[in-house]
This record gives sequence, structure tokens and C-alpha cells, in this order.
Amino acid sequence: MTLPASAARRLEARRDAGLLRALPEPRPGALDLISNDFLGFAEDAVLRDRLADAMRTLPVGATASRLVRNAADEAVNAAELALAGFCGREAGLLYPSGFQANAGLLTALLQPDDLVFSDALNHASIIDALRLSGARRVVYPHGDAAALARLLETTPAPTGERYVVSESVFGMDGDLAPLAQIVGAAEAHGAHVIVDEAHATGLLGRGAGAVAAVGLSHRVLATVHTGGKALGVAGGFVACDADLRAALVNLSRPFVYSTGVMPALAVGLRLAVERWAEVGAERAQAVLETARAQFSVAAEIPGLHALPPDAAILPLLCGTPERAMTLAAGLCEAGFDVRGYRPPTVPEGTSRLRLTVRFGVTPADWSRLWDVLRRLA
Ligand SMILES: Cc1ncc(COP(=O)(O)O)c(C=O)c1O
Repeated sequence: MTLPASAARRLEARRDAGLLRALPEPRPGALDLISNDFLGFAEDAVLRDRLADAMRTLPVGATASRLVRNAADEAVNAAELALAGFCGREAGLLYPSGFQANAGLLTALLQPDDLVFSDALNHASIIDALRLSGARRVVYPHGDAAALARLLETTPAPTGERYVVSESVFGMDGDLAPLAQIVGAAEAHGAHVIVDEAHATGLLGRGAGAVAAVGLSHRVLATVHTGGKALGVAGGFVACDADLRAALVNLSRPFVYSTGVMPALAVGLRLAVERWAEVGAERAQAVLETARAQFSVAAEIPGLHALPPDAAILPLLCGTPERAMTLAAGLCEAGFDVRGYRPPTVPEGTSRLRLTVRFGVTPADWSRLWDVLRRLA
């Protein structure tokens, strides 16, 4: 079958710009400095054994939309209660992925007569969900609460509601949104705030995320948590009040018209939250300290521009896509699992290596990495 012409054209344009992507080859034995398994939960033997034991008596699949039949309802309800408690909220709803959680939450709430203010660096799942909602979008400069306040002030009022949507820790730049100022500006204009905690969950605020860390949970309509990063499993969780959960059960089309999450995902997340209570705080603290310490080494390497990490993402800006890919290839050859990030994932001129700081990577590993990078850069 030939590819439809428009898809072929877009691929050709990517190829011409040197930006064609392919799935990476497996790199057995390479040191993982790229995954979002910040706390080592994805490979945690204790968690794996507990999950295997718990699954022995549960069905493999949910068998239908949860509104029709949930074959593992006790397990899924228990996971949602555990996650809500972990995130410091009354209730919440589980989705198969963070992408679907954003789609499910944002399309359920936002309507075409609403106005939404969205950070310029928000994740693709937020952007696509906002597009799908049909709400009028205003993109504010990244992390700029003063600009947000001005736009809230000057943009003609919608007939519907106002919303502000931001990540807390940004996935590509690793920095923290000015949450207190954002919430303050939103409240001054009657706007609801939604925060995506994908890269803060498990690391900040005793695992609950950055909103909880600064005591704002009850001034934020909902937070979105991914289960596939620090919690090491998969899935997306909307943490909110019971009323909003009940609304989502009715209004969230990706929830209503989709098979319920795999029981293993729900059980895995409940067990990950329990595992966090045993080892999470200590591992998170070690990761955050390592991130700060390694940033100060990276900042001294000529030819690279390290961005200061507010959690566990350490971006090293290196300019052109070619340079990012060459540096990544050199590091891979030296035994590190590292990837270059290029447009359209990051803005033009900001191609980078995006390192993740993971529990268990030793100071010796880091210093070997910097030695190789100094030579290559
Ligand atoms: C900020 C943010 N939100 C949502 C997602 C999507 O989560 P998931 O991978 O679980 O679909 C990601 C990345 O994967 C992300 O970085």
C-alpha cells in the first residue's frame, strides 16, 4: 500500500530538515539516563513480586467500559482511593495513560464558549486536548505569571468559563511553574486552574506533586498525575474533588467510551503508592540533591548550556539538531543511554540532550559521563 500523499509529503519535509525519527535500537547494558523512571520503581524487585502475587486472582482485562462492567472494580476503586490519598485530594479517576487523562479531563470540562490560557511549553497532550475541546486558546509566554495576569485582564471575557492550564515541572526544560502567582492571577479573574504534575509526581510534595508542596491543592480544580514516570507503572490519574470525579464519569468521553484500565495497571499503581511510603521519600530526596549537584558540574562544560533543574530533568542545550544528535550518538557509543531532542518536540534553536536524574546512578557514573561529554563537546 502506498502512503497517502499528504502523509508522505510531511515525512519528506521532516527527512529534508534532518528531523526524521525512528524507534531506537535496544541498548542492553547501557546506563539509562533518559527514561522517566526517576525512582527506579519500574525495575524494583519488591514491587514486581508484589504485583505478580496480587495479579494471580484478578482478571487480565477490564472487559468493558467501567460504566458498563468493571471486571476488577474492587482493585480499581482501591487504586483510585490510594492515589487520591497520595495526591492529597478527596477523589480521582484513573485513565490508561497521562495523555488520555489530559484528553479526558480537558475535553470534559472545556467548551467552545470557554477561554483557556495555556503555557507556551505545555505538553502535546494538553495542546491536543485543548484543540479538541474547541475552547478559545490564549498561549502565554512560558512560566510568565505577570504576562498571564495581563492577558487575563485584557482578553475579552468569554461567555463561558475561564481556565488556566500549566504543567508544574516542565518536561523539556525541567523548571517549575510559578504556581502561587499563577493561582493568584487566575483567582483574581475567576479562572479555574488545572495543573499537570507528570514530572513532579513522586518527587515533590511527599510524592503528591508541586501543587501540594506549596499548599495549593484546594485552590486548584484538578491535578493530572502520570503513573508511568516516577511511579514506574503506567496510566494517568486526575486528582480532584468527588463532584468533579462524578462529572467526569458522565462527561469524559475517553472514559465513557473506552474499555476500563487493565487491572494490572490499577494494582500496580496502588502498590507503587504503597512502595513510595516505604522508600519514596528517601529516593526522591537523593534524586533532587543529585540533580542540583550534577547541574553545577554540567554548567561548567564549555559549549553546552545546562538549565537548572527544579526536579529530576537536566536539559543540556546544544543548539542545532545535528549537534544534539552527534553528542547523543557519542554518549551512546560510550555506554550511556541518552537521546537528542529536536524540533518539533522542542522549539527551534534549542535542540538538546535531556538527561534524567535517576535513583541508583552513582557519582562515579556521572563523572564518567561528564568526562566523555567534555571530550565530545
Ligand atoms: C507533562 C506531560 N503530561 C502528560 C504526559 C503523557 O503521559 P503518558 O506518557 O502517561 O501518556 C506526558 C509525557 O508522557 C507529559 O510529559
